[in-house]
Amino acid sequence: MPRLAADEAYALWAPTYPPHPHNALMRIEQDTLTPLIAAARPVRALDVGTGTGRYLPVLAAAGASVVVGLDLSMAMLTRHDGTRRVQADARALPFADATFNLITASLMAGDIETLDAWVAEMSRALTPGGHLIYSDFHPCWRRQGWRRTFRTAQGRTVELDYHPHEMDAHLDAHAAASLHTRVIREPRAPGARYPVIAAFHAVKAGGRPSFRRR
Ligand SMILES: C[S@@+](CC[C@H](N)C(=O)[O-])C[C@H]1O[C@@H](n2cnc3c(N)ncnc32)[C@H](O)[C@@H]1O
Repeated sequence: MPRLAADEAYALWAPTYPPHPHNALMRIEQDTLTPLIAAARPVRALDVGTGTGRYLPVLAAAGASVVVGLDLSMAMLTRHDGTRRVQADARALPFADATFNLITASLMAGDIETLDAWVAEMSRALTPGGHLIYSDFHPCWRRQGWRRTFRTAQGRTVELDYHPHEMDAHLDAHAAASLHTRVIREPRAPGARYPVIAAFHAVKAGGRPSFRRR
């Protein structure tokens, strides 16, 4: 099975990557993140590593009046329209400090080697009291030897590498970036022994965070 670098793999994956949960992992992931997003009362929201824009309707439905999707892959971005799209690297966001009160990032932290620098960049673009809500492949993936694979439009199965991050690495990165970790979730599929994802909700220091009662 060929194993590809992220940019090449996402360009190949884009034509068959629907903008809605299309497997059990994504359904679990979206069921986990959606209530956290709704509770954060987004006004200006950025979805980092947006891909084909799966989270953009979720952010609008949660009340955000500004919704921006950012991705490195033009192939992914051109799969959706009607929303603000930005092609850029999440490690150097093209936005001023304190631009958004919510940043989401689903299943893209595994593409980032230096987690602490990425979290610091998310924090920079957040308002004081703003929210960072994201998911990552659970660190048990690497321990279990699980692999990331997808099928291309031509039916070829391709493996995509990722950088595993331990739970402590996430928490340390939050603390170093003045983010208070508010929620950690490690959901499993029904009957499964191991969690599939790790989800985090962290709040930037220095402001009054807005929360809806859950
Ligand atoms: C597994 S996909 C997830 C897409 C979407 N968030 C979802 O959950 O449906 C990861 C996405 O992150 C993007 N990505 C990876 N590294 C990135 C970076 N440094 N800057 C911006 N986007 C990046 C990829 O291009 C890809 O579209």
